[in-house]
Order: sequence, then structure tokens, then C-alpha cells
Amino acid sequence: MLVLGIETTCDETAAAVVERDERGDGAIRANVILSQLEEHQAFGGVVPEIAARAHVEALDGVIQAALDEAGTAVAKLDAVAASAGPGLIGGVIVGLTTAKAISLVIGKPLIAVNHLEAHALTARLTHKLDFPYLLLLVSGGHTQLVSVEGIGEYRRIGGTRDDAVGEAFDKTAKLLGLPYPGGPAVERCAKDGDPSRFKLPRPMFGEALPDFSLSGLKTAVRQEAQKIAPISRRDIADLCAGFQASIIDVLVDRVRCAVEMLRADGREPNALVVAGGVAANRAIRETMEEMAIALKLPLVIPPPELCTDNGAMVAWAGCERLARGLTDPLDTKPRARWPLEAGAVPA
Ligand code: KG4
Ligand code: ZN
Repeated sequence: MLVLGIETTCDETAAAVVERDERGDGAIRANVILSQLEEHQAFGGVVPEIAARAHVEALDGVIQAALDEAGTAVAKLDAVAASAGPGLIGGVIVGLTTAKAISLVIGKPLIAVNHLEAHALTARLTHKLDFPYLLLLVSGGHTQLVSVEGIGEYRRIGGTRDDAVGEAFDKTAKLLGLPYPGGPAVERCAKDGDPSRFKLPRPMFGEALPDFSLSGLKTAVRQEAQKIAPISRRDIADLCAGFQASIIDVLVDRVRCAVEMLRADGREPNALVVAGGVAANRAIRETMEEMAIALKLPLVIPPPELCTDNGAMVAWAGCERLARGLTDPLDTKPRARWPLEAGAVPA
């Protein structure tokens, strides 16, 4: 089957064509991403109105480019999938409405994909992973630990009580005067920094439930920066290194806690999967590798370009759902909020 996937929930306008064979193997035939980075950079973050308008301007060209690259035409598609949420509602409306229009014209099913489910299932496209697995989803809008037990079967184990990890990276970057998006900028600066110079907190470390709370860490970085203002390049590097080291310690501790909880419950996962934009961070990837070895758990992290938002993950989630006969009516509503938990996604 051949599925077009459309992604417009944040600041990437993306479309992809993914093919799935009878054995369940997936192949990415095209994966086109147009980042709106320049439109938002001057504002230090994503401006929803600008994002929605940019999706309107770019989406048809991006879809055409994906179809051309895949050497196919809309008439040959078996279904059209789009992220129907959660995300910035203006962008979600643009992507979902476009998918509905194509679906109507070609007479093939619409699949309204949960964006978080798309991140969660990417590991099955890249590594053919079997259920169940433990997912650490770390993106700009979400930080969750989820037991992925089947299509539409998601058990939320823990999550953030305030900021998402990517959001903490972005806010820390902003307060240190680094460009948006903050994650890659903080990672770059952290490379030259001394992580032990500033004593930063490890919020929730050692807590019994695998939840996160990151707003205090960002505040601690701000307070340290204010104490030594004006800050030099060296100070910024040391603060970034300290911040990233705190995040890594917290992630490792929280994942270990989740794995122990699952094991105590007799639910051994087949792997630990790390997904979402923050999974592009090299230091985090390397630490996760060490931790997975210590936990005797296979680790799966999709390549960085499939960790950040993209159309292939949406097309693949569409394939997985279509293969199970899960399609959606044309009056499906876009959703700004749509948690990934039991019962949230129809199975
Ligand atoms: O999954 P994603 O592309 O969009 C959302 O659904 O949120 O994730 C974007 C987030 C941003 O907060 C960005 O700063 C973060 O992922 N990010 C990183 C890195 N690359 C992207 N965070 C840390 N290190 C990175 N290398
Ligand atoms: Zn995302």
C-alpha cells in the first residue's frame, strides 16, 4: 500500500510517501520537509499565526515535490494521512483540510493521525520492532513515558508536570541569548563547556513515579546567569553543559524508574525507544546507549531526521492504521489537544 503523509502541527511543512508491503515492511519513497525556521527566528519561537499562513503557502508545493520524488501521482495512493493533532490548531487545520480534499478527490480513505502516535510508531518503520516497547517521547511540546502495546494501545506511564524537555532547551537557549530552536544551539555550546561548574538541580530525581518537572531547572539556569552577569561565551558554554548534564541525569533516572515499574508488573518491554525532536541530541543518544546496556534492554532511536517532525512518520502511522482497517470520516475534527493514552486513539 502507498500512503501520503502530511505534517503541519508546528513549524515544519512536511509531506512524504511511504510504502508498506504485505509482510509489514515499510519503505520511504519520499520525505520532503520545509522548515519555517527563518520566519520564526526573529521572534525567538514559533508564532502560531505565521506558522499557519506559511503552511498554506507551502503545503501544495511540498506535497507535489513528495509525489514527484516518489515517482507517483495522487491517483495511485491508497490513502491520505495527516496529523490531526495535537499541535498549533491553525497549522493542523491546514494539513487536515488538505488531506480531506485529496481524499475526496481520489476517493481513497482519510487517516487522521495522532502526531504523538506517529512519533511512537516510527521505530516500527525503521527497525521493524514488535510490541510492546517503552517509548520515551521527548519533543518541544511533549515529554512522556508510554508503554506502546499495539496500534491505539498506549499506556501512559509518566510525563512532565510542567515544561517539556525540548521546551526547557528552547527557553534556556532564549534566556542565554542563543538562537531558536534552542536544542541544537544548547547542544553545540555545551560541547565546549564544563558541566560541573554550576550546581544545577536534578528535579524529580529518585521520585517513585516516573514523572518530570523541568521549569525549576530553567529558573536555576536563569538565576546562575543573573549572579554572574554580564555573561561571557565561556559562561554560556558552562551553563549549557550544566543544563544538558542535568537533563541527561534526569532522563536516565526517570527511564530507569519506568523500566523497573514495568518489570515489577511483569510487562517486560522488547526495547526502549527514544523519539521526538530532542532524540536528535547526540549526548542524549550516547547516554541512552550506555543506560540501555546497563538495563539489558535493546535501544532503538530512529535517525535524527525521523526524530524531528516529518511526513514519513505520519504516512507510516497511516499505513499501520490502514492495514488494520482504521480510517476516519471526512468530518473528523482537528484537535489542539490529543493525549496519547489508553482510549485516546481508536484501535
Ligand atoms: O518533535 P519536534 O521536531 O517538534 C515537536 O513536536 O515539538 O521537536 C522539536 C524540539 C524543539 O524543542 C527543539 O529544540 C528540540 O526538539 N531539539 C533538540 C535538538 N534538536 C531538536 N533538543 C536538544 N538537542 C537537540 N540536538
Ligand atoms: Zn513532534
